[in-house]
Parts: sequence; structure tokens; C-alpha cells
Amino acid sequence: MEIALVLSKEHQTLLLAEIEAVRECEGINYSIIKDREGLLLIDLNEKYLKNLPDIAARLSFTHEMIHIIIRTDEDKLISEAKNCLWNQYIPSDYAVRVKKMDKKSTHNTSDLEWEMGSIIKTSLGENAKVKLEDPSTLIRILLQDGMALLGYRVGKISKKHFYNLKPHKRPFFYPGSMSPKLARCMVNLTRISTGETLLDPFCGTGGILIEAGIIGARVIGTDIDYKMVKGTKENLQHCDINDYLVFQEDARKLELPKAVDAIVTDPPYGISASTGGESSENLYRQSMISFERLIKEDGLMCLATPHYLNLDEIFKGTKFKIIEQHHIRMHKSLTRVISVLKKI
Ligand SMILES: C[S@@+](CC[C@H](N)C(=O)[O-])C[C@H]1O[C@@H](n2cnc3c(N)ncnc32)[C@H](O)[C@@H]1O
Repeated sequence: MEIALVLSKEHQTLLLAEIEAVRECEGINYSIIKDREGLLLIDLNEKYLKNLPDIAARLSFTHEMIHIIIRTDEDKLISEAKNCLWNQYIPSDYAVRVKKMDKKSTHNTSDLEWEMGSIIKTSLGENAKVKLEDPSTLIRILLQDGMALLGYRVGKISKKHFYNLKPHKRPFFYPGSMSPKLARCMVNLTRISTGETLLDPFCGTGGILIEAGIIGARVIGTDIDYKMVKGTKENLQHCDINDYLVFQEDARKLELPKAVDAIVTDPPYGISASTGGESSENLYRQSMISFERLIKEDGLMCLATPHYLNLDEIFKGTKFKIIEQHHIRMHKSLTRVISVLKKI
């Protein structure tokens, strides 16, 4: 079965790494047919169809997933659609939506939606029921570089979720909070599963803990500043996350009764979040020694750091090994480095 993933156009390496991490968590195998800007076409076994809504519920930089019925040249799309047995795919109401992935297509989007809608209507006969708002089956047509993909949507990543949980929309806000999409992606990169425990030892307003809690992880958060601890609790409760442990502590001195499965954190850069007078290098180096104790053997840690920190120096002498890295340009003088490290 072929599945198309419509991707965000930002953070190319990061979004592919996120898909790979979630694939691994769900125990799914696939092969890549096409990997183009904004679109990933994969081939996977039919048995994984049931896993796709769960995968869609985890991803952040992917927009939607489509089960492909027809893959053809753009100019053959109409004739192939006329030969399709539509009642196999459309049990009740439906709508058709076209997305041009580049500027090459000569099709007019609404004309093509109208024409495809009529073809389907003719095929379904009196059972045809068009429903433009929230249909049971959304027929999707993707046009890219002369290729047409037609299928039905099997998963949609909630834009509303990431919009509603933007830092300034939560009960407690503080400048320097991370976007929920990036926080979710970083959580995913640690391959954390439902019921496992994730720690953010510089939790700030709790954005990382919220995203980990939503995908079913048990969360532990600490921060040196009591105002952040109180605010994180408020934010977690606002998101209906109740399985948490949040308390005030210096990351360098933190002790926990049991090793955690993963650590995801965004330590202070000393710009909007204070390092408490300590140099970032010293704070990070000392914290890593404590994190090495707190995480299980083979556990993964995902860290956001500024580009000017020499991570090789910071991890020297620890059991952490960098396994992947991605760069996000924030503005002219700051690039964020997202690193995934494994305790070996
Ligand atoms: C960049 S902010 C974290 C932002 C967070 N990701 C969010 O979305 O709100 C870093 C946090 O580290 C905390 N912090 C600074 N030094 C610390 C230390 N030694 N131990 C624990 N927390 C510390 C600061 O109070 C701040 O809340």
C-alpha cells in the first residue's frame, strides 16, 4: 500500500528524523518511493493501516497522510479515475480536495475538484452523498511535477492543537518558551512510548512536558525557579495532564528514586532564560553529569542548545554520544541546535 505524507516546508532534516523516530516507536517498516520537498511517498504493508491514525496523532511537522488509490501522470488522472470502483473507498459521504504541491500543474484546483466530484457521483449512483464540511471520506488529489496522486485521507495532524497550545495561550506564559511543534518533535526524537517516564530538568513553562504528557508519557519536570514550577503545574492541569511530578530543584543536584526513560530539555542560553550567573558551559557540563545518573542505560536525550556552545567539550568524559543533530535558524545571530544523544 502506498501512503503519501504531506510535510511542512520548514526544518527538512528534522521532520524526516521525526517520522523515522515515530516509525521506530510504532514498530513499522516501510520503503521510500519518493522524497520531494513537502511530500514523502512510502510503501508499507496493509497490516499497518490501523497504526496510521496513532502515528498522525504523534507527529508535529507532518500535515496529513493519504492512502493512495491512483498514482499516475497528471494528464491521465481523469481517465484512470473514471475506471475506479469508488464504492470500495467511499462507504458514506465524501468531499474532494486538490492540493498543488508546486506551480507546474496547469489544472485549476476548483475545476478539478468539481470534475472529480462528478466522476465519483456517477460511479456511486444514488448512494452518492457530498458533504463539504467534515466528510467521512476526504478524497485528496496531490499534484506535483507532472505527477498526480489520488487517495483518501487516513490521518490529519491537528493544526488546532498546536495553535491552541501556543505558549501565550496557556494560563502561565514566560518569554523564551518553546513552540509546541518543536517540543513535540523533540519528545518524538527520544522514541518515548506511552507509560514511559520523561524528564525535563529545565522545565520553564512546561511546554515539553505538555507534549510528552499528551502522547501518554509520565512526566517529571524541575526548575530552579519556583515561579516556573508553579506555572508548569498550572499549564499541565490546563491540558488535563495529571500524571506528573514537578518540583523546584537545581538540575545539577537533582536526584530521582528511579532512572527515567528519556530526557528532553531546553536549557537556558542566558538570553531570556537566566543561567543564574553561571556560564552556560559550566552549567551544561555540570548538568550532564547529573543527567547521566538520572537516565537509564541506552536512554535517549534530546537537547536544544545555541550554536555557539561546543557540545563535544560539554559531553567529554560522559557516557553520552551524539547520534543525530539538526540546525534551526532562529535569527541572524542565533541558530538552535537540536541534538539527540544516547547514553552508551
Ligand atoms: C530556556 S528555559 C526553558 C523553557 C521551556 N522549554 C519552555 O518552553 O518554557 C530554561 C529554564 O531553566 C531554568 N534554570 C536555569 N538554571 C537552572 C538550573 N541550574 N537548574 C534548573 N533550572 C534552571 C530557568 O529558570 C528557565 O526556566
